[in-house]
Amino acid sequence: MNTLSINQLSLVYKNDIRALDNISLRIDNGMFGLLGPNGAGKSSLMKTIAGLQKPTKGDITFNDTSVVKHPAFIKKQLGFLPQDFGVYPKISAYDLLQHLAVLKGIIHPDERKRQILALLEKVNLAAFKDKEVHTFSGGMKQRFGVAQALLGKPAVIIVDEPTAGLDPEERNRFNTLLSEISEDVIVILSTHLVEDVRNLCSQMAVINKGKLVATGKPSEMVVALNGKIWSKQIDKKSLPEYEGTYPVICKQLIEKSLHITVFGTEPPEGFLPVIPTLEHVYFQKLKNIE
Ligand SMILES: Nc1ncnc2c1ncn2[C@@H]1O[C@H](COP(=O)(O)OP(=O)(O)O)[C@@H](O)[C@H]1O
Ligand SMILES: [Mg+2]
Repeated sequence: MNTLSINQLSLVYKNDIRALDNISLRIDNGMFGLLGPNGAGKSSLMKTIAGLQKPTKGDITFNDTSVVKHPAFIKKQLGFLPQDFGVYPKISAYDLLQHLAVLKGIIHPDERKRQILALLEKVNLAAFKDKEVHTFSGGMKQRFGVAQALLGKPAVIIVDEPTAGLDPEERNRFNTLLSEISEDVIVILSTHLVEDVRNLCSQMAVINKGKLVATGKPSEMVVALNGKIWSKQIDKKSLPEYEGTYPVICKQLIEKSLHITVFGTEPPEGFLPVIPTLEHVYFQKLKNIE
């Protein structure tokens, strides 16, 4: 069993932006979803966990060893697919993995070759191993990114917004791949897509403006909203009035008419009950509606 423990973590950048504000979280084996809008602090948190930058305050421990004091300890056991992987060079997938495997300390050539071929197979790129990575499609690049993250059999895998820019089919294939690898390791997936978390993650956290606003099991968090979500079709013109009266969780245009969803422990006049979804949980927590 692996445990990553984040304790009262804060990160203030040089320009005085507080990207992380007193975050505490515990992450065990399985797939963990980190949800938040753009600018919430997801990438900042992931880079700090990966030991690429030091927090201003607080600590992160991996299996009881401080990542802040001993970044090399987690780096050896970590695979990272950053949000901006950078340029994909004009070399083949095999050669790039070869290069990255050496950097990761997989020194034995036979073992290296075996691992690279097995990983290319796993991410469904074996047929393209001699193709230059810069010519890959978005989905292929992301699957290549997973292959490089899995080099050295890491215990923690961090993937930062991996499905952004993928078409639905590529996104599906990528998500299936992620769920296959998460059995005996920690996989942290950051995303602003609620659907990915709902489909893949057994635990999740929502962060906003650097603060942790919710954490738990997606299914339990949805159940907790039973009987508290209501919907009504309204005239667009009366939206400000409704927003002034009710805690509006989301607004949706369905075939040109506006549907609003509100939170309430009692049924509001004229509204119909709605079966809660993780999307409702997300917006309720983001907007801090209780
Ligand atoms: N290197 C940096 N220097 C200064 N500010 C940064 C840096 N990286 C991110 N930020 C700021 O920190 C906040 C959180 O950013 P980020 O962690 O990238 O959020 P997310 O990944 O959730 O979109 C944003 O306000 C962003 O502009
Ligand atoms: Mg980011």
